Amino acid sequence: MRHVVLTENNQDAAIADAVETLRQGELVAIPTETVYGLAADAANGKAVAKIFEAKGRPRFNPLICHVTGLAMAQRYGDLDQRAMALAEGFWPGPLSLVVPLRAGAQVHPLATANLSTIALRAPRGLARDIIARLDRAVAAPSANRSGRISPTRADHVVDQLSGLVSLILDAGPCEVGLESTIVSLVGERPRLLRPGGIPARQIEELIGQSLERATSGDPIVAPGMLASHYAPRLPLRLNVSSIRPGEAVLSFGEAEIAGAAGAVAERNLSPGGNLVEAAANLFAFLSELDRSSASAIAVSPIPTQGLGEAINDRLARAATPRS
Ligand code: TXA
Ligand code: MG
Repeated sequence: MRHVVLTENNQDAAIADAVETLRQGELVAIPTETVYGLAADAANGKAVAKIFEAKGRPRFNPLICHVTGLAMAQRYGDLDQRAMALAEGFWPGPLSLVVPLRAGAQVHPLATANLSTIALRAPRGLARDIIARLDRAVAAPSANRSGRISPTRADHVVDQLSGLVSLILDAGPCEVGLESTIVSLVGERPRLLRPGGIPARQIEELIGQSLERATSGDPIVAPGMLASHYAPRLPLRLNVSSIRPGEAVLSFGEAEIAGAAGAVAERNLSPGGNLVEAAANLFAFLSELDRSSASAIAVSPIPTQGLGEAINDRLARAATPRS
């Protein structure tokens, strides 16, 4: 792990280093005006999987995808008049906009938790320079371990993620020190999903509409958590050791599943038993098997340590019948 302290003279080299590291599918802790972010190329599934692994997140919740501004945001999301006005008014800055995911957007489904929406934000300063040079969206949650507070100084990141990231860029304390305000523009009424660096009042004034407040326990606060978002068309059977006639099989590693040779379709999340690779393949393989002519999807056991916890959580939700 490299820890680079930024000075007036090394900015360009640090940006180039960060861009190259992101291109290689590695993680970089980058300062933003809100908090330090744990950044990965949003189009690279394995890189995004490493974020969840490093954070020790027990679930795949959707990540904010960082862009340079409105024009770049439009490559990833469908921004309506309100969204465009907010982007023009507050970007770059501590505001994240949840909008419909654009068809064909170059974002890996693990970054959006396979939702049909995407959270977009244009950060200020160095983070923005890195994204501009990379010219791709950067997925970045706060650079803390799951359940710990968001880091506003590089040494917080070093404490929590030392050895888990390739590069830490240290630009001193974050200017805002509070995460971005998240506003959803997916429904008719704009909703405040998380209060943050931009006061809700300023947002309401700009769009001339009041924000609906999400109450705690409201499932819309974190749509990625809704069981139904995760439900495929076909029923899922988990932890199987043998498959039944007509089933497709989603396997992992080299474990033998009795009858797998006769499966309608088979996909192996990671023949070599690598959980990062498995996480990156999960959504695509599930939906592929879901579109097969099988009557059900049989899933082999997947280890529960590390990223396995989030993979198993996702599968358990997928196995929950739609109500
Ligand atoms: O200030 C910030 O926003 C920082 C810096 C690094 O930019 N990032 C940050 O990310 O706080 P994170 O992952 O810690 O929080 C992202 C929040 C999560 O609560 C997630 O559920 C929500 O954004 N989110 C992301 N995509 C969403 C979507 N499509 N719909 C609803 N909520 C979404
Ligand atoms: Mg966070």
